[in-house]
Amino acid sequence: MGNGLEHHMAHVTDAVAALRRGDLVILPTETVYGLAADAANPAAVARIYEAKGRPSFNPLIAHVTGLATAERIARLDERARRLAEAFWPGPLTLVAPIAGPGAVCDLARAGLETVAVRAPGHPLAQAVLREFGGPVVAPSANRSSRPSPTTLADAVAETGFAAAVALDGGPCAVGLESTVLAVLDAPVRLLRPGGVTRAQIEALVGPLGEAELDAKRSPGRLTLHYAPDAPVRLNALGPASGEAFLGFGSACADDGLNLSPTGDLRQAAANLFTYLRIADRGSPTGIAVAPIPGEGLGEAINDRLRRAAGFVG
Ligand code: TXA
Ligand code: MG
Repeated sequence: MGNGLEHHMAHVTDAVAALRRGDLVILPTETVYGLAADAANPAAVARIYEAKGRPSFNPLIAHVTGLATAERIARLDERARRLAEAFWPGPLTLVAPIAGPGAVCDLARAGLETVAVRAPGHPLAQAVLREFGGPVVAPSANRSSRPSPTTLADAVAETGFAAAVALDGGPCAVGLESTVLAVLDAPVRLLRPGGVTRAQIEALVGPLGEAELDAKRSPGRLTLHYAPDAPVRLNALGPASGEAFLGFGSACADDGLNLSPTGDLRQAAANLFTYLRIADRGSPTGIAVAPIPGEGLGEAINDRLRRAAGFVG
C-alpha cells in the first residue's frame, strides 16, 4: 500500500468526485475490492446491479466511517453497538432496521426495511468515506456468482468497464468478505461467515442463531457464489489428471498451489480467491482443494468453497 496516504490523496479526491457525479468507483477494502456508488443515488446504484449482473432483490452493504455515522442510517441496539465497538473498523457487517428513508436508497436495500452497514478498515476506503461524507454502497467488485477480487487487477478485470476511477489499495489483507450478522431480534443471526470468526462474536453476544430460510431476511443465501469457471472438488488429497490443486498444510501433495504451507487459516483466507483465479487460468478440467479445518476462519473458507463447488446453504 505504499508509504502512507499522501500520494493517494489525489486519487481519493478523484474517487469522491466520481461518486458525487453518480459514477462508480473500484474501492479497496481490507476484505475484498468493492464496486462503489453513492448510496443515496438510485441511478448510480442501478448501474452497480447492471455491471455485476446481480439480481436487484439482493441488497448492498452501506459503508460508513464508524459507529456514529452508522447510527444515522441504522437503528443499532445495545448488542449491535457492542459488536461495532469491538470490530469496527473491520470485516463485520450489521443488518439492522433503517433509521429513516433516503440515506440508503430503496434500490440499494432491495426495498427492505433493514440495512446492512459496515465500517471498513482499509485506510483508502476510510479516506474516501470521510471526504465523501455519506454512506457508500459497495458489493464485492466481481460479476455475480464469481469469486470476489482481492487485487486491483482482478477487480478491474471483473467490473472495471463500469467504473470511472479505480483505487489501488494493494492485495486485500483479509481476502474473504465481511461476516454478516442480523441484529434484529434475539438471537443475533449469522447470515454469512467471514473475516470475524463465530467465536469472536459469540464471546460478546452469546450463541448465534442460524440464518432464517426466508429470502427476505437473508437474500444473499439464495444465490450460487464464488465459482471459478472450472468445477471445484472439495476434500481432495491430490489432483486427478488434468486438475489444478490447492493444497493446505505440509502434509499435502506439493504439485500445485498451497493456500498455506504452515496450515495458517489467516494466510489461507487471504490466498483463497486469488489462488482459485490463478488455478482457473490454466483451464484445468477441475480444481481440487485439500480439506481445510472448520474452526476459526475455516468456517468462512469452507462456506466459500462449498458455494464455489455448487453446494449452497
Ligand atoms: O467484505 C464485504 O462485505 C465486501 C466489501 C466490499 O465490503 N462487500 C460484500 O458485499 O461482500 P456483497 O454485496 O458482495 O455481499 C453483501 C451481503 C449479501 O449476501 C447480501 O445479501 C447481504 O450482505 N445483505 C445486504 N443487505 C442485507 C439486508 N438488509 N438483509 C440481509 N442481508 C443483506
Ligand atoms: Mg459478493
